[in-house]
Amino acid sequence: MTDRLYHDPDLVQFYDIENAAGADFEYCRRFASGARSVLDLGCGTGQLAAALADGRVVAGVDPAGAMLEVARARRNGDKVDWVEADARSVRLGRGFDLVVLTGHAFQVFLTPDDQAAVLSTIAAHLKPGGRFIFDTRNPAGREWLEWTPELSKRSIDHPRWGAVEAWNDVRRDAATGVVTYTTCYRIPDGRELLSAESRIAFPEKEKLAVLLDEAGLYVERWLGDWEGRPYVATSPEIIPIGGLRHALDAAP
Ligand SMILES: C[S@@+](CC[C@H](N)C(=O)[O-])C[C@H]1O[C@@H](n2cnc3c(N)ncnc32)[C@H](O)[C@@H]1O
Repeated sequence: MTDRLYHDPDLVQFYDIENAAGADFEYCRRFASGARSVLDLGCGTGQLAAALADGRVVAGVDPAGAMLEVARARRNGDKVDWVEADARSVRLGRGFDLVVLTGHAFQVFLTPDDQAAVLSTIAAHLKPGGRFIFDTRNPAGREWLEWTPELSKRSIDHPRWGAVEAWNDVRRDAATGVVTYTTCYRIPDGRELLSAESRIAFPEKEKLAVLLDEAGLYVERWLGDWEGRPYVATSPEIIPIGGLRHALDAAP
């Protein structure tokens, strides 16, 4: 699962430029307001984890050292416990009020077994009464159709190199539903081409619901976007919000 997009510092320097804090960041920040401890799985460059660290205990887990290097250097980076590890197997030995995966980090888990493993990690780190939230793109939206060179071509304003030409390309395996996309950046002066090939899954809501249940997690709400609208079949996102099922069973 090693992806140059997240492990190569040359490519990682584009991450925050291309992924400025958006509606998911704002929603999660509000959602975390009552939480005193937060675990961010697949935390990447740590935009959210660091923003939540004022007055809270926050841990961020990611296997990509280059992403965590950016995370450590940002404001509040010294207040977060950054853990270089795989979210499928990491066990920190403590519970959190909130566990999040944002920026579609859940989609890096390609198989039902991988997805079940990360859901078990969520369950293993929730305090009784704690909650989780994460997002995965709704396959019905077929967003990958927009990731062709023609539709994705863009110019990025890089602080060191100026205008960098960027584009994606994509193919989808019909049998597994796994989407393979390339990300390319052409650096103007040296005409260097940086590129990475990434693979992501697009699990369906019904299959996700079964995996969540098997992991001992219940879902109290399914959102369909980060504006907070309820999920419907045509929603762009699938966003479950829930907690530990046995904590619910034990409630008076
Ligand atoms: C699209 S980025 C999302 C980053 C961040 N959550 C955000 O919202 O910007 C996906 C992240 O998942 C991480 N990732 C890949 N495999 C992982 C794994 N096995 N366990 C945890 N994180 C993983 C990547 O390194 C990358 O930082």
